[in-house]
This record gives sequence, structure tokens and C-alpha cells, in this order.
Amino acid sequence: MSNALLEISFAPFTAHHHATTVILAAEGLALGTTAASVNTKTGGAVLKAAEAADFKGKAKSSIELLALPKIDASRLIVAGVGKAAGHSEADWAGLGGVVLGLITARKVKTASLIVDVADSGDTKPEQVAAHLAYGALLRHYTFKKYQKKKPSDDNGEAGTGMAGDKLEKLVILCAHPDKAEAAFERHQALAKGIYLARDLVNEPANELGPVEFADRVKALEKQGLDVEILDVADMTKLKMNTLLAVGQGSERPSRLAIMTWNGAKSKKSKPVCFVGKGVVFDTGGISIKGAAGMEDMKGDMGGAACVTGLMLALAQRKAPVNAVGLIGIVENMPSGNAMRPGDIVTSMSGQTVEIINTDAEGRLVLADVLWYAQERFKPKLVIDLATLTGAIMVALGKEFAGLYCNDDKLAADLSACATVTGEKVWRMPLDKAFDKMIDSRFADMKNMGGRWGGSNTAAAFLQRFIEKDMPWAHLDIAGTGMDGSRSDINTSWGPGWGIRLLDKYVTDFHEKADKSEKPEMAEK
Ligand code: BES
Ligand code: MN
Ligand code: ZN
Repeated sequence: MSNALLEISFAPFTAHHHATTVILAAEGLALGTTAASVNTKTGGAVLKAAEAADFKGKAKSSIELLALPKIDASRLIVAGVGKAAGHSEADWAGLGGVVLGLITARKVKTASLIVDVADSGDTKPEQVAAHLAYGALLRHYTFKKYQKKKPSDDNGEAGTGMAGDKLEKLVILCAHPDKAEAAFERHQALAKGIYLARDLVNEPANELGPVEFADRVKALEKQGLDVEILDVADMTKLKMNTLLAVGQGSERPSRLAIMTWNGAKSKKSKPVCFVGKGVVFDTGGISIKGAAGMEDMKGDMGGAACVTGLMLALAQRKAPVNAVGLIGIVENMPSGNAMRPGDIVTSMSGQTVEIINTDAEGRLVLADVLWYAQERFKPKLVIDLATLTGAIMVALGKEFAGLYCNDDKLAADLSACATVTGEKVWRMPLDKAFDKMIDSRFADMKNMGGRWGGSNTAAAFLQRFIEKDMPWAHLDIAGTGMDGSRSDINTSWGPGWGIRLLDKYVTDFHEKADKSEKPEMAEK
């Protein structure tokens, strides 16, 4: 497997260092005890080199010292930490990514990282080590499965998909390695989910059609999820006509995948539902898109990928919560059988929709999946993720996802988690005025809100499929869910955006409640 997780282990400071070893220096050249002893052993070489190179321990700066006497490492990299005491979890993970980048550039198979930051503020040393490991793991991801001809830098022998120059083992020397390892366990579960989501987004649409996507989801049963796949016949019976309308122009049949994780003490406590847009390829349909950049529309299932990765992460870390992930998987194609502008389709909810533009297909998929999720699972709340509108990128670029929410507490909670994880969201308006813009001359609503509709009328459309009093959040991830901004912990086109945010949200706002919830209270 080209994307086998990097093997990361934790060891005490006394353990052997690999030939390539990284030590850390905080701003002002503050060295921890072990790093300081490396300096002493080498006759002060570290600090002398730092001075010569004008290295002061600033974040993202580094120096390299070769062939020093009296230490195991023949190549010593000193990585700058910056102002360690003020670092957040995301900052530590970012540093882990930077360190991994420094190591990868050296094309070595094994390396050691000494983590002995003198003052890490409120973050315990074992947490620092775990976050660094997490960031390194996320940075290590690559998608080279189709580059078979040239043995690429990090993919080894041509066509084998075997790790070549890519780092295989990272040993982290730290205080309380056992505690660090325990803290790292949940990060590893998350990384598995993020790797899966990235793979799904990066995969081209000829390889990942609706059926193949559903098969991959079904395979997650081995990882502890319950998975149900509905096919076209099942969805026809359920009257999911807006979802089916999107898929009807494609040779490849639509699917709905339902992933269930019941980890709460009470199996009866209401679940949290996550819904994802899974358009494996969006040509626009009869309202076909222009050719330029259309290849990117293989990523139009970023919402579904996030939901899938999140559900895997929850199962892997055995989260004490009940959660259901539902993804509508379709392909939007023009053909003799495709839906046309002017068509009127009756959604599962009974509401009718006039198709104005077949390229506004994501909302048609979500309409039925959102409705079904509420009808069947009676959830505590629903959160959907979708690469829904180009307009959200005009507003928020590739840095923020648009957050539409009918519940101020839910919006505040998600925003708080976004700040901590660095997967940022920005609240956008739900408003009657936007809702009015999707009234139709012929049907209950139309699927497009005119020139100035943008992301807001798309959200207003979705809201028409949310039941009264159901707390609901919609994340428009067109800018962040595919080809997002690259970072220290992500160099991949498919970023796996949203999993860290929603895992944090589940952890902070649903697990504690579920743990203490008495079964008899759970129903109400
Ligand atoms: N999948 C697109 C939105 C998109 C665009 C995602 C670019 C990522 C990058 C969506 O289905 C779409 O085509 N939206 C249209 C809606 C319009 C026809 C009302 C758009 O945003 O232009
Ligand atoms: Mn579209
Ligand atoms: Zn789309």
C-alpha cells in the first residue's frame, strides 16, 4: 500500500537515535534538556552553528549539522518551534508537519525526533509529542497510485506502489512515551479517516463511480461500522426523485450509503446525523459546464468523503456517541435520459422542484438525503457537508467553509471547534429574502435563485427540507473540500477537510452528554 500509515513509535530519551535526528529549539534558542545535552556532547556545535546561520528558533526555520562527533546521529536537524508556550494543538500538529517535511526532503527511511520542549505552556509534554506525531502523519500522505512510469521521489520502484524513499519509521523520543502513545491513539484513528477521505477525493471518477464508492463504504464494515447501501430500486420505492433525477443521465446507477456507529451507552439515545454530497463527477448535466478546469469536478464528492472518513474515525476510536452518516452518491451527466431544465420533480418530502439549471444538482441530492435522515433516524441534529457552490469561494476563498445554521448554539459550538482545529468556518445568512428567491412559477420551488442567489439561495433550498425545530448546519465546502489551501499538515489535492472539526465537535458536545445520559431519559 502506497499509503500505509507511517509507523510512529514513542521511546524514552535514552533510546538510540537514528542517523537522521531532529531536535527542537524554541524561539530565543531555548533548548530542552536532551537537546541541550546533545549540544554539550558535541562541544557546543549546535549553538555555534545556530549563531553562524543566524538561526534563532523561529517557527519553520531550521539548520542542519553533519557528521558531528560523539552522537548517534550523523545528520542532526534543528527545527525552530517559535513561541512554544503559546502554541495551540493545531500549532503543534503544524510543527509535526514541518518536521516531517524536513525529514522527507532528506529521502531517508528512518528518523528520530527528540521532543523535549522546555516550556509548552498548558499543553502537557505527552500531548505535545502526540500532536507532533499527528501532524507528521497527516503531512506524510501522498497520492501517487497512478504515477507508474517514473519512479517518483517518494514512491519507490515504478508501478509497485511500494514505499521507496518515503520515510517509513519515525521514532519520537519524549518524556512519558507510554502516555504519549496512549494520547496518540485517537489521532491515529482520525488520521485513518482523513487518509480515506483524501484517497476518495483524489481518486478519478472513472475509477470511483457511485457503485465503486458504495463498495468502498461497504468494506468499512470490517472496521466496525454498520453499512447499508440503497440502490436505484430501493430509492425509487422511497420516492427519492430529486436524487434520482441527478443520476438518471449517467450510465452508472446512483447509490445511497448509510453508515451507523452506535457507540453510546444507550443504543436508544438519538444519533447525530452527518449528510454528504457525493457527486462523483459533475459535468453540469444538460446545463453543461465549460471545459476549463472541469477535471476538478471529480472532487464534487468531498462532502461524502468527509462524512465517510469521519464515520471511520469515530468507529476506530470507539467514540461513545451514536452517529449516522448518510451520503448520496450520483454522477451528473448529460445524455438522452438526463433531466432537463424545466422538468418538475417531486422530492421524497412531497415538495415539487422545478429544475432551472441541471448544474445546481448538489441541492437536489441533499434534499432527499436530508429528508430521509430526519424521517428515519429522528436525529438530535443534522450537519451536512457539500461542495455546493462556486460562489462560496468568491465570498470566503479557500480558507473558510461557509456555515449556514438555523440554531445559534450549534453555530457557536461548530465555530469554537473550527478555531481550535484550524478548519475554519464563517457564518453566512439564512434569510426569508433568499428563500423567496427560490419560489417557482410552476412548482413549490426552483433549484436556482437567480443571478444573486449564490450560496445563500442554495442554503435556503436545503432548509426547505429541514423539519421544524430540527437543529441543522450546512457547510458549503466547495473551497475547502477539494483543492483546498495546502498547509504544513496537508499537501494533497483532496484535503480530507472537516474530519478534525467534526470529530472535535462530537467529542466536546456529544460524548460527555451521551455518557451520563440515563437510558430512560434518552428518548425525550
Ligand atoms: N459542484 C458545483 C460547485 C463547485 C464549483 C464546487 C467549483 C467546487 C468548485 C455545483 O454543483 C455547481 O455547479 N454549482 C453551481 C450552481 C449554479 C448553477 C446555481 C455554481 O456554483 O455555479
Ligand atoms: Mn453542479
Ligand atoms: Zn456539483
